[in-house]
Amino acid sequence: TFVVVENCIKCKYTDCVEVCPVDCFHEGPNFLVIDPEECIDCTLCEPECPAEAIFAEDDIPEGQEHFLELNAELAQNWPVLTQKKDAPDDADEWNGKPDKLKLLEK
Ligand code: SF4
Ligand code: F3S
Repeated sequence: TFVVVENCIKCKYTDCVEVCPVDCFHEGPNFLVIDPEECIDCTLCEPECPAEAIFAEDDIPEGQEHFLELNAELAQNWPVLTQKKDAPDDADEWNGKPDKLKLLEK
């Protein structure tokens, strides 16, 4: 499976959802996740993310491995998103900022 990691938080550009052939992105208030049960490892979403926040399971940046579990958990609670929407106005300011996990809204 592919996994959305910390840098998506408060960026949420949503370019990723448009290319997914199996509609496995789920949307929360300020973050998106991939349902690992649905992802078919097509790799299409990874290069689409302007925040470089999507990684293959085996390629997750060090220290962010727990995002695999978090994606699986939140995908159960959040609705599917299949169409790109406007990113938050301040998305570019948050792109690349460290320690965003504490800002994750569930
Ligand atoms: Fe969807 Fe493919 Fe990305 Fe998996 S790798 S989330 S199937 S676009
Ligand atoms: Fe997040 Fe990147 Fe998609 S910022 S919403 S994973 S395009």
